[in-house]
Amino acid sequence: MDKIIPKQVQCDGHASIIDGKALAGKIRAELKAAGHKANLAVVIVGDDEASHVYVRAKIRAADEVGLGTKLFELDKKTAEVELVKLIEKLNKDKSVDGILVQLPLPKQINERKVLALIDSRKDVDGFTAKNAGQLFLGEEGLFPCTPCGVIEMLESVGETFKGRHAVVVGRSNIVGKPMAMMLLNKGCTVTITHSKTVDLTMHTKMADILVVAVGKRNLITASMVKPGATVIDVGINRYEGKLCGDVDFDAVRDIAAYITPVPGGVGPMTIAMVLKNLTKTIKV
Ligand code: GUN
Repeated sequence: MDKIIPKQVQCDGHASIIDGKALAGKIRAELKAAGHKANLAVVIVGDDEASHVYVRAKIRAADEVGLGTKLFELDKKTAEVELVKLIEKLNKDKSVDGILVQLPLPKQINERKVLALIDSRKDVDGFTAKNAGQLFLGEEGLFPCTPCGVIEMLESVGETFKGRHAVVVGRSNIVGKPMAMMLLNKGCTVTITHSKTVDLTMHTKMADILVVAVGKRNLITASMVKPGATVIDVGINRYEGKLCGDVDFDAVRDIAAYITPVPGGVGPMTIAMVLKNLTKTIKV
């Protein structure tokens, strides 16, 4: 694949902005041009507004590149057994190549139990133990979309990974843990930090690559960043009616070499990676 160079906005003394929206657009255009044919079943339970926004964006993106979708919208009171039956049906359905269960699920449903049922070959989110194990072992598989998108963003600006110190802030199963494993597999020295970390700044200050996935506005300030670092902001927070990430963008862009914006950074890349994983299901 040709190297994708995203639009970078270089301002005086400022970091270059890694434009996730533009990079995701190029990836979608490549997927469309390749003419893949695959169908994604999208399952959403309940009426969480943010989840519905994400699901609509995923379906729109699939439509745009010529991939099929089937949407299953279930009531917030749906019993676990009903969802289990649906997953089992979708596993058997030969016309379904990928299954995506939007999280979070309502409290009466055991999230891990439901995700574990998904056929690992259809697991476009990379949430099953089989795919997580393959990532852990450094084998091929379907891996979580947000960290996959972050890796593509880093590659797009010529990141070399080997010997670089990557610091991941956050240890979720969806982002932090798989992110750390991908960076490790690429030859980075990796530190994982989280809510119990005692001196966060001591760690973030050492990062050549800093990936922040916590969900706390202004968690990362300029004094916590090493000059010349690459800062990837996975956070999505709402403040005074606007979206913002976990990084104090205006201050940190004076210190970092590369930085991702929110919105228009990691978010669109996550969606592009869902589609890329869907095209991979036809081969696994
Ligand atoms: N909820 C928040 N992020 C994600 C994601 O990447 N996949 C799914 N299925 N649900 C989510």
